[in-house]
Amino acid sequence: MALVCSTSRQDSTSAKIITLYRGLLQTNHGLNPELFDLRELPTDFLQAILYRPERGAHAEWAQWQARVDAMDKFVFVIPEYNGSFPGILKCFVDALQFPRSFRGKKAAMIGISDGTQGAALAMSHFGDVLNYAGVTTLAFRPRLIDINKYWEGDCLINPMYHNLLTEHARQAVAM
Ligand SMILES: Cc1cc2nc3c(=O)[nH]c(=O)nc-3n(C[C@H](O)[C@H](O)[C@H](O)COP(=O)(O)O)c2cc1C
Repeated sequence: MALVCSTSRQDSTSAKIITLYRGLLQTNHGLNPELFDLRELPTDFLQAILYRPERGAHAEWAQWQARVDAMDKFVFVIPEYNGSFPGILKCFVDALQFPRSFRGKKAAMIGISDGTQGAALAMSHFGDVLNYAGVTTLAFRPRLIDINKYWEGDCLINPMYHNLLTEHARQAVAM
């Protein structure tokens, strides 16, 4: 299983959720998931990789592609950006080989936002992308609204959100 931090924004709340979720997978399920953090994409991603037929020869990108190829299940933490998912997530998918990267695989999503949607539309939009790519998605998609109101440092202090993430991890492992 792999966790995807779906933004390249520094000081990202999505990354804090990923850390928490990774802990749940380790503690409750004995799993040590791979991490795809879009903040760590190669610095020349836009110039030398995206839409470039020769990108397979890019050593750093070849490792990203190989790691995706090796995964059969992904959990995406998706922040709401302008009513949808971050553009860098679409660029990431567009740069990966089609159809082999995702076809026949599984994915689950968790949405976060400052507003009241909890990235509901964002997950719906990205769900369509995943379905097009041949991915089966988990129906349970927690929407963590007002996400930045509930932190003390790196600690999420909303018990309901902890419950939702715990249940999501259970279902994602079982799917
Ligand atoms: C570019 C951008 C666009 C955003 N658009 C929305 C939005 O449409 N609706 C909303 O509720 N929050 C919006 N937000 C707030 C984010 O959803 C919220 O701050 C979330 O924590 C961002 O995730 P991140 O910290 O992982 O980047 C936006 C934030 C950014 C940076």
